[in-house]
Amino acid sequence: MDRMAEALLNGAAPGQLRDVVLPGEYVAAHLRAEDVDMFAGMDDKDVRKSLRVGPVPMPELAPDEVLVAVMASSINYNTIWSAMFEPIPTFSFLKRFAATGGFAARHDLPYQVVGSDGAGVIVRVGSGVRRWRVGDHVVISPAYVDDQEPAAHADGMLGPQQRAWGFETNFGGLAEYAVARASQLVPKPPHLTWEESACITLCAGTAYRMLVSSRGACMKQGDIVLIWGAAGGLGAFAVQFVKNGGGIPVGVVSSAAKAKILQQLGCDVVINRSELGIDAAPATLAQAVESGKLLGKAIRASAGEDPHIVVDYVGQATFAMSVFIVRRGGVVVTCGSSSGYQHQYDNRYLWMNLKRIIGSHVANLAEQWECMRLFNLGQIVPTLSAVYPLPEVASAARHVQTNSHIGKVGVLCMAPEPGMGVTDPRLRARIGEDRLNPLRDGAGPRGDDPPHPPRLRPRTSEGYRSW
Ligand SMILES: NC(=O)c1ccc[n+]([C@@H]2O[C@H](COP(=O)([O-])OP(=O)(O)OC[C@H]3O[C@@H](n4cnc5c(N)ncnc54)[C@H](OP(=O)(O)O)[C@@H]3O)[C@@H](O)[C@H]2O)c1
Repeated sequence: MDRMAEALLNGAAPGQLRDVVLPGEYVAAHLRAEDVDMFAGMDDKDVRKSLRVGPVPMPELAPDEVLVAVMASSINYNTIWSAMFEPIPTFSFLKRFAATGGFAARHDLPYQVVGSDGAGVIVRVGSGVRRWRVGDHVVISPAYVDDQEPAAHADGMLGPQQRAWGFETNFGGLAEYAVARASQLVPKPPHLTWEESACITLCAGTAYRMLVSSRGACMKQGDIVLIWGAAGGLGAFAVQFVKNGGGIPVGVVSSAAKAKILQQLGCDVVINRSELGIDAAPATLAQAVESGKLLGKAIRASAGEDPHIVVDYVGQATFAMSVFIVRRGGVVVTCGSSSGYQHQYDNRYLWMNLKRIIGSHVANLAEQWECMRLFNLGQIVPTLSAVYPLPEVASAARHVQTNSHIGKVGVLCMAPEPGMGVTDPRLRARIGEDRLNPLRDGAGPRGDDPPHPPRLRPRTSEGYRSW
């Protein structure tokens, strides 16, 4: 075992952690530049072929960075894009970043350590880091911001050099160690395990900005909010933010099993798009309008009105419907395009009905802290459904790639087993174990899906423990 991992597991004090000699290499999930053409002409770009797990060199630390011993991370859809080398290989982002010079040049390597979530312990701090110390338990926000850019002071996401960590940068979170800027850090929720904490920042932070933030749809009490893919990574958090803010979530899913889980999560209206016959991407705008009418009718039958807000990250397959069904004056908020980024919609429905489309991306650091506060209050809970060990990260990613997952899929990095990292068990008990894990054991494989994910469970008798 890595000496640092051993020290952390033995509860070493910060001073002792500083004395542990760092390894020259660490184990990381990574892509290799020589593989970027491996899927040419293939329909199934199986990420198990491109995602490798093995040793990579330990990078140098810049003055404004910290080295985090990553206890857990999670799979995000951007890692699926990276591992398919689509729409472009992410190595081109690394080159562009490196061209800005200085420490950025480190990022342009023939390999990329991917992963945009992480929870762990700070084991080294750069000379310019003021607010964080070795030994701090943190989660890492994926918003990689240059705080010397003027625009970043209006909103961290607005700086032209803002990047998605572990996607547009190297040294990401699906690894034993990760390099993060101090401006990416948020204290880890003390009542959550490493793997629960590691599934929050990218998806919950993004859903928070899309729905709650004044920069997003700014949802108000009573709003009806349609959420596509409501049992997915972003969706299961979006449902919770809508409920918590006094809105009425309308969740769309593709199977009866997912519909059941969404009901368990407290989603007021659940629509199975397969049952409604709107699961195929409409071939024409006229077909999209017909599907939109079916969906609109189903929403009105259950919620009584058209939606005020539509949360759409599915893209090409759903966007024309989203623009059609959102109410007059309503908002379609988007942060992605899983089914394709070339959206077509009938603009007449937009302008004549004074609808708006809002583009949203991750969350700035202040939004991440506000979002995390809701977890610490127990108002929003993690949506982990399965946990894999780091050596099986490719299977975890395949599970998400084939859409056979529910909520978030976690990955244990340095943590040897699930259930570790809780430092406030009383808060955990107060919020309640069942409430904290609404999706655990809810997901199962279908048909030719990959093998069932390992249901890693805590081994200690009390279930959860800190280091
Ligand atoms: N910009 C950002 O900051 C940001 C942050 C996070 C994620 N994203 C993007 O947002 C998207 C979703 O991320 P995620 O983590 O939630 O992924 P996810 O866990 O895979 O969930 C996506 C959901 O979309 C639904 N879906 C897929 N294809 C569909 C189709 N053709 N029609 C309708 N629904 C479909 C699926 O639900 P059903 O099959 O049950 O309907 C699935 O559960 C990805 O493209 C990701 O890259 C962007």
